[in-house]
Amino acid sequence: MYSAVQPSGNLTIGNFTGAIRNWVRMQNDFDCFYAIADMHAITVRQDPALLRRRTIELAALYLACGLDPEKCTLYVQSQVSAHAELGWILNTIAYVGEMERMTQFKDKSQKHADNINMGLMDYPVLMAADILLYQADYVPVGIDQKQHVEITRDLAIRFNHRYGDTFRVPEPYILKEGAKIMSLQDPMKKMSKSDENLNASVFLADDRDTVIRKFKRAVTDSDSEIRISDEKPGITNLLNIYAAFKGCTLQDAEREFQGSGYGDFKLAVGETVADALAPVQEKQKRLLADKAYLNDVLKSGAENAFRAARRTLSKVCRKIGFYRGE
Ligand code: TYM
Repeated sequence: MYSAVQPSGNLTIGNFTGAIRNWVRMQNDFDCFYAIADMHAITVRQDPALLRRRTIELAALYLACGLDPEKCTLYVQSQVSAHAELGWILNTIAYVGEMERMTQFKDKSQKHADNINMGLMDYPVLMAADILLYQADYVPVGIDQKQHVEITRDLAIRFNHRYGDTFRVPEPYILKEGAKIMSLQDPMKKMSKSDENLNASVFLADDRDTVIRKFKRAVTDSDSEIRISDEKPGITNLLNIYAAFKGCTLQDAEREFQGSGYGDFKLAVGETVADALAPVQEKQKRLLADKAYLNDVLKSGAENAFRAARRTLSKVCRKIGFYRGE
């Protein structure tokens, strides 16, 4: 199992329900590697001090959400140089055309029109390197990253075809509920860490009043029926959030609120989310007070990751003909 989150902003409940929540569930049954993708984060401009702070905060958040360093490997991507090395090699089998077609590249190029750097276009290749280094079978992500896992599969298959069996071909692991949380202000748009409208996203760090206020203000429709429908994207999104946090299905959530008014419904969603976030925030705060412990976790995580990554990288170097002595 392999996945990562970028330390590029305050995490939203989408990052939690689409990714981290599912990571926690898998750690007992799989050999899991979970990274903090700081090398991906710098494809858009980052303030260096802030990037450093967000990295350690994200490490604390991983633990606070229930990831156990005894059961899985938690590490910072840039501390394992094999990612950059394999990324370079994979660049030579990745085509410019296919990278230009990636939805995230197109979105980010629009959003950061003054900084369309090579890294932004190369982003999926580095992500493929992340995943393939660890010979992952599954990649737990939200729907927005599915395309990147698919290109990872394409690159793995292409490499295996050209140089002989080297990489395992991974599959995305996506749970229905919570895999695509939409903005509370525009339910046709994905909820995102970097949305400028602060009311659009619920952050994992938001306090109870803020969470409840944001849900109260969530854009819905002028109708009054609570049901799942493409014509009711705001209500469907709230039902989805509720289901993801309650651990029930979307249909169960719909049944529960049949006949309720929008006001009561929004309050119930807000309270459910706030109740779930409070213990995570508390634990994250406690962990951040013990930097030595966090550094130890990341250090042994990076050592572990390096060992696993090096095995794959050596194999790759051999296959492509890099000289390592006769
Ligand atoms: P990032 O940091 O944008 O998002 C982290 C994870 O959160 C999921 N996610 C969502 N899920 C549901 N609803 C949303 N609104 C929502 N927004 C984000 C994302 O799908 C993701 O799973 N490229 C990755 C980081 C990465 C990675 C990897 C992931 C780097 N290397 C290797 C998997 C494997 C990213 O940008 O995630």
